[in-house]
Amino acid sequence: MKNRPAIALALVAVSPLGISASAFAQTTVTATANGVDVKQGAITMRVAAISDSILRVRVAKGGVFAEDASWAVSPEARAHSVSAKSTVNGFSTAAMVVAIDPATMRLTVTDKAGKVITNDAIEPLMIQGKGFTLRKSMPQAEHYFGLGDKTGGLDRRGKSFVDWNTDAFGFSGSDDPIYKSIPFFIGVGGAGGSYGIFLDNTWRASFDFGHREENILSFGAPEGPIDYYVIAGPSTAEVVRRYTDLTGKAPLQAQWALGYQQSRYSYMSADETKQVAARLRSEKIPTDVMWLDIDFQDRNRPFTVNTKTFPDLKGMVSDLGKEGFKVVTITDLHVARAPNQGYRPYDEGMKGDRFVHNPDGSVYVAPVWPGPSVFPDFTQSSVRDWYGTLFQKQIDDGVAGAWNDMNEPAIFETPTKTMPLDIVHRIDSDGFAPRTGTHAELHNVYGMQNTRATYEGLRKLNPDERAFVMTRASYAGGQRYAVTWTGDNSATWDHLKLSVQQIINMGLSGFSYGAADVSGFAGGPSPDLLTRWFEIGAFYPVFRNHSAKGTPRVEPWVDGPEQLAVRRRFIEERYKLMPYLYGLAELNARSGDPILRPVFYDYPSAITMSCDQSMTFTLGKSLLVAPPPKPESPQAYDVCLPAGGWYDYWTGKRSGVAQADTEGQIQSASQATGGVKTKGDIVTETPRLDYLPVFVRAGTILPRQQVVQSTSEIPRGPLSLDVYPGDDCAGDLYADDGHSMAFQSGAFMRQTVRCQVTAKGVTLDFETPQGRFSPWWKQVAVTVHGWKGTNAVKSGDRTVASIGDANAQTVSFTIDTPMTATRVAIARR
Ligand code: GLC
Repeated sequence: MKNRPAIALALVAVSPLGISASAFAQTTVTATANGVDVKQGAITMRVAAISDSILRVRVAKGGVFAEDASWAVSPEARAHSVSAKSTVNGFSTAAMVVAIDPATMRLTVTDKAGKVITNDAIEPLMIQGKGFTLRKSMPQAEHYFGLGDKTGGLDRRGKSFVDWNTDAFGFSGSDDPIYKSIPFFIGVGGAGGSYGIFLDNTWRASFDFGHREENILSFGAPEGPIDYYVIAGPSTAEVVRRYTDLTGKAPLQAQWALGYQQSRYSYMSADETKQVAARLRSEKIPTDVMWLDIDFQDRNRPFTVNTKTFPDLKGMVSDLGKEGFKVVTITDLHVARAPNQGYRPYDEGMKGDRFVHNPDGSVYVAPVWPGPSVFPDFTQSSVRDWYGTLFQKQIDDGVAGAWNDMNEPAIFETPTKTMPLDIVHRIDSDGFAPRTGTHAELHNVYGMQNTRATYEGLRKLNPDERAFVMTRASYAGGQRYAVTWTGDNSATWDHLKLSVQQIINMGLSGFSYGAADVSGFAGGPSPDLLTRWFEIGAFYPVFRNHSAKGTPRVEPWVDGPEQLAVRRRFIEERYKLMPYLYGLAELNARSGDPILRPVFYDYPSAITMSCDQSMTFTLGKSLLVAPPPKPESPQAYDVCLPAGGWYDYWTGKRSGVAQADTEGQIQSASQATGGVKTKGDIVTETPRLDYLPVFVRAGTILPRQQVVQSTSEIPRGPLSLDVYPGDDCAGDLYADDGHSMAFQSGAFMRQTVRCQVTAKGVTLDFETPQGRFSPWWKQVAVTVHGWKGTNAVKSGDRTVASIGDANAQTVSFTIDTPMTATRVAIARR
């Protein structure tokens, strides 16, 4: 540590801090092991390098930093540090240069080439009482994403948002706030590449992207710590990976969580549930999960069952299990205030003083579904542990997962829709010294801590199984505990479009398992809207059909056989894609890469493409799904395909320019355009209800399987492997038992396959599989696309029988799954 010369601020007439720092205050810059402390008047700003690409910025008012604690960032992640190299007015790491202007305290972060990543605005920090606003400059070229499931379109530019978890039944496309608070956004398109900012503050934070003040990006909170992270890219993918290094990765879900899921508020009885399940099977609609909403409970009381309508829940779950269905049940966080009735959650909770209090010390009581209710104090670790034990009966009944709803928390009969701000919580974990905290501080993490209690409870009760929890409310880092959905949307075309944008932004905010109620919760969809929703929902990370009481039924068959046929075809396609989808889920658990992504995630130039991309997304890097941007309109529209070449998923043929391949030649994308990488193609699509444009990146090796009726069924035949030649040609095959934790100790199989375009054709290289799990497939059926001419296939030295199809432009063959490194050569004779 060394002190630098103090610099007088004689020139600043108005304090840049907007507070007490006087015009003549001095700035002291002190180097620390991993950054700097900058002191000016009563303010100390501490900039610390957590890693070469992540900075933590904390500001102390009156010389005292808030306690080093966080609901989002683990102590280990917060303790990370890299050494910083001192510079004249800041420091540098291997990836960033940090400069603080001593006169104004403006923070500028550049890359090593001097390109600005993020740059403070004039008056970088305004302090208003206990509140603060941080201000950054907002370059013209920059676009903003993230903030969880906010409405308002894909791009946050030009808009203002508030973080306050809100039960937003029937929300519109511009309502804010809604259910979640993820105070993290990504700037994309600026000089220094993509970067992220995460404000770790649980109060009612706000974000403004040039809405109030042109070209000024500002964010702040009315109270709580000034504590934020700057996460450098330069790619968007690196930002998301680093953000999830900080706040945690979403754990790998059981494979059934990726299957089709059937829900309704509510299936009113065991008989009705079984009838719907039976119809799904008789109509051959692949399905993995049946959901039970609040009416399966006794008088809406969590942890009870209505034994009149569900006389034998365990038996029902077991019967459905034999048919390949899992059952997920709702467990809202409120506990019915039911004294002296043998209702364990209430009795134990009261006995242990486990519910939140009014300021006068009495237990807070307010109406929700069960009537007068009390609310576990989830911010207390002992309460979380206790709450987790309440799931024992559900585990015993064979219930596969928990649905935590209403956890903003929602309160009825009050205009604020939630608890009063002065309700008292107790906190004692995550770095916080034991103390009380008001609901104003803890509101936004309450739902997240509810899911933490549930998730950790399920993991303890059933340690060998993965725990499935779905939540409506959450905070940054909540992806560690639960998957999520967008709450009570509506059956409109606008909401269908919004759902894609919300799921994209959730994925960029760490919540890779996003869903929206297929059909729209409120209202009733037209047959065409419902069909389109099934088509697009089939590509959501979590695919669940759900609808409100009193609305028309929306199970797949409701509009007759023609619509059903289209819906079924898309559900089936999802099951065919299961090996790919599951591989993406596993990749997500390791890297944080979302399952469903904006096109610019893997193809940065897409940010400036001319097409309307408001509904386009990719599933992993390989599949680009391009629904009509005006989903209700029959108008033709253009799809911009990023450079590199694409194939049509449905026909397997090259799309766009690259179709002009020379006769008899397979070409990589760059070869197809004479060695010059194309700028990308534009394909014009005319909407048709039974069709959704999907493209495959040239360079993909796509694993698929035969349709099954649920993931519990072993697919017939070999694994199919479609090879779409192009640059960086590779694919990963991944398998494990699909539900247990054994994959964490080596019971998995991962095999990388690469392909290369050669003068004679294509070679496929299977690497030796890793892990000790034997997948269901014993053989792989390879189809090479874009193939013209004759064919001869050799696996190692052995000749393999192959079939060419001139019309489809394919060559196909089947081989035993290579268990050691194996080269397969596909050549023209
Ligand atoms: C909330 C949920 C909805 C659920 C209903 C009844 O509105 O968002 O999905 O069906 O409560 O539990």
